[in-house]
Amino acid sequence: MSAPPPMSVPPKAPPRLKVAVLISGRGSNMEALIAACAEPEFPAEIVTVVSNRPDAKGLDKARDAGLTTKVIDHKDFQSRESFEDALHSHLEDSGAKLICLAGFMRLLTSRFVERWRDRMINIHPSLLPSFKGLHTHERVLEAGTRFHGCTVHFVRPEMDDGPIIAQACLPVMPNDTPDSLGARVLVQEHRIYPLALRLVAEGKVIVRGGRALIDSPPPDTALVNPPFSD
Ligand code: GAR
Repeated sequence: MSAPPPMSVPPKAPPRLKVAVLISGRGSNMEALIAACAEPEFPAEIVTVVSNRPDAKGLDKARDAGLTTKVIDHKDFQSRESFEDALHSHLEDSGAKLICLAGFMRLLTSRFVERWRDRMINIHPSLLPSFKGLHTHERVLEAGTRFHGCTVHFVRPEMDDGPIIAQACLPVMPNDTPDSLGARVLVQEHRIYPLALRLVAEGKVIVRGGRALIDSPPPDTALVNPPFSD
């Protein structure tokens, strides 16, 4: 009797990076990450969505997408440290290897940040290191800068600080309001957060000397000054 033909083994998909997404509000950046992770070839998967606010709108969106959600309300804890200990244990239990802060509006202590050093990234609505903090669109208009944008970066103990992975830049138009500018920035946030996550999950980003080095940089392009008047 001849030997049976060898069984064909389907090729094994490479393991996907397990990601926790932390939110405090509407969660539109989280949605962009969910959409990216839904692509079969995307190198990351979301294992938990955590909110520090029980009323965060993003929680429903995450549940609708079939994701595990968890509320860890900072008001239930007596100190920042005890809140962060609960957060840390949930993240460890979830198996997450990377945290994506997506509109997570709670300052994290350096103790927590160092525990997740180079394993936690954030999106911020400005071209860092300019315009750290809140109300970036208003402040950009007040300052009269010609360009604005958004940044994805590794998190460091100082607020909105850390090695930069990706940025998008757009012109400030003469008739812009904080809302119109913010809406255009948000569109770009939704582009660069998945891009940055892909680069990190593919192991293409290394942090050296306070900078994030990317081994396959995008092609060199230039932006020119936007119109000075309408
Ligand atoms: C986004 O614009 C994000 O960049 C910003 O909060 C918004 C959250 O929106 N984050 C920060 O300002 C952090 N410093 P979203 O909940 O719809 O993603």
